[in-house]
Amino acid sequence: MRVLVIGSGGREHALCRALADSSSCTHVFAAPGNPGTAAVGTNLSLDPADHSAVARSVQEHDIDYTIIGPEKPLVDGIADHLRAHDHPVMGPSADAARLEGSKAFAKSFMQEHGIPTASFRTFEANEAEAAHDYIRTQPVPVVVKASGLAGGKGALVCTTREEAHEALDRIVDDRDFGAAGDRVVIEAFMEGDEASVFVLTDGDRYVVCPPSQDHKAIGEGGTGPNTGGMGAYAPTPLVDGATLTAVCRTVVEPTLKGLSDAGTPYQGILYVGLMLTDDGPKVVEYNCRWGDPEAQVVLPLLENDHAALFDAVARNALTGVQVRASAEACVGVVLASQGYPHDYDTGVLIEGVDLAEQMEGVHVIHAGTRLTEDGTLVTDGGRVLCVVATAPTLETAIERAYEGADAIQFDGKTLRRDIARSGLMAT
Ligand code: GLY
Repeated sequence: MRVLVIGSGGREHALCRALADSSSCTHVFAAPGNPGTAAVGTNLSLDPADHSAVARSVQEHDIDYTIIGPEKPLVDGIADHLRAHDHPVMGPSADAARLEGSKAFAKSFMQEHGIPTASFRTFEANEAEAAHDYIRTQPVPVVVKASGLAGGKGALVCTTREEAHEALDRIVDDRDFGAAGDRVVIEAFMEGDEASVFVLTDGDRYVVCPPSQDHKAIGEGGTGPNTGGMGAYAPTPLVDGATLTAVCRTVVEPTLKGLSDAGTPYQGILYVGLMLTDDGPKVVEYNCRWGDPEAQVVLPLLENDHAALFDAVARNALTGVQVRASAEACVGVVLASQGYPHDYDTGVLIEGVDLAEQMEGVHVIHAGTRLTEDGTLVTDGGRVLCVVATAPTLETAIERAYEGADAIQFDGKTLRRDIARSGLMAT
C-alpha cells in the first residue's frame, strides 16, 4: 500500500514512522512533511489547504489512502473533497469534524445525546452583555472558550469573575482568536485529571487505543500557559479497564450513533479529551484527529500492522478488526524552543539526535525542525522534537526518555522534567 499523511508536525512524523514499519505499506508520503518524515518516506510539496492539488497528487502518486493529520483541513472539508474523487481517507467529513471545529456544536450535541460534560451556555458575539450577565451568576473557576478553531489556545480558565469578563472581552471585542470568537462557550470548571482516549472508527464499528495522558502546561506541575503539549505517556493507569468501558458506553457509542443518526457518520480517529471527575469521566472536548504528542506514545503500543488498521478505517472495513496493544509503556518528552508558547527563535543548531536514537528503546520524532542547505539540522518551531521511549515498565520508559532528551542539545532547549510522573503516582 502507498499512504499519504497530510501535515508537518510530530504527530505526522509518528504516523509516517508507524506506516513505514508496517509490512503492508510499500511507500509513505507526507505533505508537506518535515525532516523526520523525509527520513522514512517522500515529502511532497503540497499546501493542505489546496484540496484539489492534494487530490491530483493522490492520483498521480497512486496513493491507496490518505491520513489527515491536523484539524484545519478536516474542518475545511478535505476528506469530503478526496472522497468525492473516490480517494479513501482516514479522517471525518467537515460535518462530523464540527465536533472539534465548533465547541458550541459539540456542547449542544453532547447535551442532546446525554453525554457527560460540564454545564455551559453558548452566546453569539453580539450577545456579549448577556454573556457578562451569565458570568456574574457563575461560580469560579469558570472556563470561557472561543467556539471555533484557535490552535488549542482558545479555552481560558478564569479563577475570578473579573478574569472571566476580561477573557470574554479578549475573545469578543479584541478578537484575539479572530473568527473563532464569533461564538463563545462559557462552561463550568471541572476538577480532576485529564486523559485522552482515541477511537478508530469506520462510522459503524470502532476500536479503542490504549488511553494516554498529555501534559499541556509549559511548566512542571501543570503551571504556566498551555502549549500544544509538552509530553505524554501511555497507557495511563488513570483510565483503568472499567473506566474505559464506561467511556465507551457513555461517550463513544452515543457520539458515533448521534452522528450516524444525523446522517453525518464519523470515519477516522476520534479523540475524546476527558476529565476524570469524582462524578465519573466527562468530556472536556472532542478532536477530530490524533493528539500531538499523544500519537507519538500511542502508536508504538499498537502491535497491529498500522497501515492495514488505518486502511480498514478508510475503507469502512473494521469488522472483525481488533487493536492488539503491547504490554509495554511509552513516554514522550517534548523539547521546545526557549520562549514557547510565546515568541521564540528559530534556526538554532540541534545536536545529538543520532546519539539519542542509539539508546535502547528510544526514538526521536521531529516536529519543528528543518535541514539547512548544507544538511544541518536546526530548530524551526516551538515544539522542536519529541524523544520517545518504550520499556517494559513506565518507570524505565521515563528514565530512557530523559536519557534521550539529555543527549540532545540546542541553545534554549526547554523541557518539563515531570512527564508521566502522574502515571507513576497513580500505580
Ligand atoms: N495534545 C493535545 C492536542 O493534540 O490537541
